[in-house]
Amino acid sequence: MSETVAIHYKDAQGAEQKIELPVITGSENEKGIDIGVLRAKTGFITLDPGYMNTGACQSAITYIDGDKGILRYRGFPIEVLAEKAKFLDVAHLLIYGALPTKSQLLNFENEIAQHALLHEDMKEMFEAFPKGAHPMAMLTSMMASLSAFYQDDEGAAGEVFDLNVVRILAKVPSLIAYGYKRSVGRPFMYPSTKLGYCENFLQMMFSLPTEPYEVDPDYAEVLNQLLVCHADHEQNCSTSTVRIARSSRASLFASVAAGVCSLWGPLHGGANQEVIEMLQWIKDDGGDVKKVVELAKKKDSGFRLMGFGHRVYKNFDPRAKIIKAAADKLLGKLKVSDPLLDIAKELEEAALKDAYFVERKLYPNVDFYSGIIYKTMGIPVKAFPAMFALGRMPGWIAHARELSNDPANKIGRPRQIYTGPNVSSFVPLEQRAGARS
Ligand code: COA
Repeated sequence: MSETVAIHYKDAQGAEQKIELPVITGSENEKGIDIGVLRAKTGFITLDPGYMNTGACQSAITYIDGDKGILRYRGFPIEVLAEKAKFLDVAHLLIYGALPTKSQLLNFENEIAQHALLHEDMKEMFEAFPKGAHPMAMLTSMMASLSAFYQDDEGAAGEVFDLNVVRILAKVPSLIAYGYKRSVGRPFMYPSTKLGYCENFLQMMFSLPTEPYEVDPDYAEVLNQLLVCHADHEQNCSTSTVRIARSSRASLFASVAAGVCSLWGPLHGGANQEVIEMLQWIKDDGGDVKKVVELAKKKDSGFRLMGFGHRVYKNFDPRAKIIKAAADKLLGKLKVSDPLLDIAKELEEAALKDAYFVERKLYPNVDFYSGIIYKTMGIPVKAFPAMFALGRMPGWIAHARELSNDPANKIGRPRQIYTGPNVSSFVPLEQRAGARS
């Protein structure tokens, strides 16, 4: 007999009742109680602010074991992919469920290279942004506006969907690079079909029409690793946002634009910007990491150690290990010493020895060391969250595709427990007290 969980409750008349709910078991033996009939049969809903214990879907894309520090895309350990795979290999794996063959990869890369150009009218849109606009403000707007240029959209099965996948992966680097060029008042540089994905992005960011530019292969290699590490992370805040948006059959462009908005916050993808700003602040303030650790422990300070802690990882973040090693390797090879890297290491050491962080299982997360690498490459700090969005794009698309392919998919629509007034009487304007809650 299949496994069930029983819930005992009192009905509206106060009589004892029991309901058996089926247990769904995942391929890694994760278990979930299927509460699909709970409200209809008992009148109860579940309440789980922040979705700490709520599975929103069944998904075959990414597996995380937060206690053991495991992250796998379609079964492949992140450590293996970060070492051996190209970012577009991983994008294909996440979106289409398999590593591409040689010819599939070549096709995918060629198509993406061909579609990297932006519509010329988009330049005027970039020029309309104020000079100090945040890169994420430009990216969300420009991503959503792609749906004005490419209005054909469909479910996940057809050629139009595949073409839109290519368009998004192809145009995101151009959108980020154009946004950067706009912010520094330099000319936009066109994408090149002759360069690889990471090389092309670096070329668009840093080359100028006035002088030859050669992509540094070390930068391209480490960027590939960073993008692979960011490519998916199952039902995080931005991916859940994408799924919810897509569940209403919003276009793929609009759905991933919603993901960019959600990623922007400092508790999510905005954390990599905050980490560097925090490290800089510690340095400028005399470099006392212990003082900062103490401040992070004080609840009323409102300050958190940015780049520390994770909703799922309670042992270590495997991506942080890879990125820390990559930062060491890159800076070592370039023979540059960055005082912020030294402060980051000191801070990590101090926090990992501190009972507050140990008890709460707060470890450096993916954002803790990525900013040091981006900074070394010359990427401006405000653009770090956009780099995260560049990496996360295949994951968002993969989830949108999975959801669109699921015949049982319903529009995402959580319920609530209402706590407001019962019935209020309308008060004429001149008699209102005006108290706000
Ligand atoms: N610095 C100081 N204290 C932290 C902390 C941090 N970075 N992260 C969590 N805590 C503390 C909380 O204050 C809370 O303490 P309490 O139990 O005494 O109230 C406890 O640890 C649990 O934190 P909580 O916010 O409930 O965990 P969460 O799972 O909801 O949040 C994060 C996860 C990632 C949002 C959170 O750890 C955080 O804000 N980190 C900093 C931002 C960051 O780096 N984000 C990038 C994530 S990849």
